[in-house]
Amino acid sequence: MDLAFLGTTRGLCYLAASVLFILSLRGLSTQETARGGNLLGIIGMTLAVVITAITLISNAVGGGDAVAATVAPDGGGRAIGLLGAALVGGAAIGALVASRVAMTSMPELVAMLHSFVGAAAVLVGITTSLQSGAEAHQTAHMIEIFIGVFVGAVTFSGSVIAFCKLRGMVGSKPLMLPGRHALNASIVLASIVLGVMFVSQPGPDGLVYLLVMTGLALVLGIHLVMAIGGGDMPVVVSLLNSYSGWAAAAAGFMLSNDLLIVTGALVGSSGAILSTIMCRAMNRSIWNVVFGGFGAAPAANTAGGAAAPAGDVSKTSVSEVAEMLLGAHAVIIVPGYGMAVAQAQHAVKEISSHLIEKGVKVEYAIHPVAGRLPGHMNVLLAEANVSYEIVKEMDEINGEFAHTDVVMVIGANDIVNPSALDDTSSPIYGMPVLEVWKARRVIMLKRSMSAGYAGIDNPLAYRDNTMMLFGDARQSVTSLLGALRGS
Ligand code: TAP
Repeated sequence: MDLAFLGTTRGLCYLAASVLFILSLRGLSTQETARGGNLLGIIGMTLAVVITAITLISNAVGGGDAVAATVAPDGGGRAIGLLGAALVGGAAIGALVASRVAMTSMPELVAMLHSFVGAAAVLVGITTSLQSGAEAHQTAHMIEIFIGVFVGAVTFSGSVIAFCKLRGMVGSKPLMLPGRHALNASIVLASIVLGVMFVSQPGPDGLVYLLVMTGLALVLGIHLVMAIGGGDMPVVVSLLNSYSGWAAAAAGFMLSNDLLIVTGALVGSSGAILSTIMCRAMNRSIWNVVFGGFGAAPAANTAGGAAAPAGDVSKTSVSEVAEMLLGAHAVIIVPGYGMAVAQAQHAVKEISSHLIEKGVKVEYAIHPVAGRLPGHMNVLLAEANVSYEIVKEMDEINGEFAHTDVVMVIGANDIVNPSALDDTSSPIYGMPVLEVWKARRVIMLKRSMSAGYAGIDNPLAYRDNTMMLFGDARQSVTSLLGALRGS
């Protein structure tokens, strides 16, 4: 293939893909346009993969610029075979995993994918340093390699720990080592010294400094994420998302690939913006999350486990709840992680439609970290075709609870915990929550008195105006729907 033509086509395709990624991010910012945004991202990525594969094949058969000289002797057969195996194998594994993953396990999958980006940046950096001619690398290129490998290693090990924490393979309690900030600072300082030595010795001789730094950065990633408490994991996942973007951008610099630089920068900056928004929503300082040791959990902390209940609760029944709902003027539904686990969103939507038909004002209240991933509840409600107009964010709806007759909390716990506002000893103290207890009546639908993700007891359950409807959320709301239709 003509080299100039290929170069121009590749440049144009990279530009088009970059624009599609920007439009995709824009589309993903609202529920109404999210599907379209996702589609644009898919088109952009397909374009990027196809043109990159064509470039590599062209190089492999001897028509390209960079690697032609090294792989052309066998006609490029081996390189093309490897590329094909990587593309087909990667696409097959990706499709299989994505089609099987439960929505509630999505953060784990995302953490795992971030670790791949980190690992890729480390491997690209080390390979670049091993290449023949590495002795002639410019200082700027050496710095790019060093920073890329550092960010990649922190992203890799941090994401693996995040995966283990989200999976429950590692406890959610933060690891508070004495002098942990000094430890982090010494690793960063030692890495800077190693960086200076690496840059002053280009080629394989300097590799040892790069490898020692990689080991230190891996320890730093593990330590940073181990120091984060369970309640702050959502911010950590989005922060690692940002790191993975910067790692990809660094890999782009190492490979002189413009598209990788642009895409990495987009992921890095959008991840940083999302982390800041989430920190604001949870009243956390981003620096505390970055440097760890935050969200300390109490001794009873077992993510999703049972913190000892501390009071008496009033139980209610399906028929009693149906009566309360039909007698109400205004009802607010608060969905949480339990609704996602039970896949109760369709029956919940039927209940709200039925009540609206009967003249009851119904709204949904969404907490920014409800469930297990950003926008989790919005996705479920959209899937059940709940009108966006009655889905309200926390800031919009918190003032409405005082004028509401009945609030139905469906499988939510931490996001409606009043101790976040009135108990300074609580690990979630300071996090804004949905102030449901201000309503006339609160019905909590859950299976038991088990705690939520943060592993802490919820005093909401013992309030005079709260009643518990115990049972699996899907079974409870299905029975409730039957009772509403029958009355
Ligand atoms: P949680 O506080 O985790 O509470 C969920 C409740 O659902 C549990 O108390 C559980 O009680 C109940 N439940 C579980 N399965 C159920 C079922 N089949 N039927 C009925 N109830 C069921 O959830 P939340 O209120 O949505 O708060 C989210 C938490 O996750 C926050 O602490 C947040 O920081 C954390 N987190 C969020 C994210 C993002 S980005 N959203 C990511 C990671 C962590 P029973 O066992 O008694 O039924």
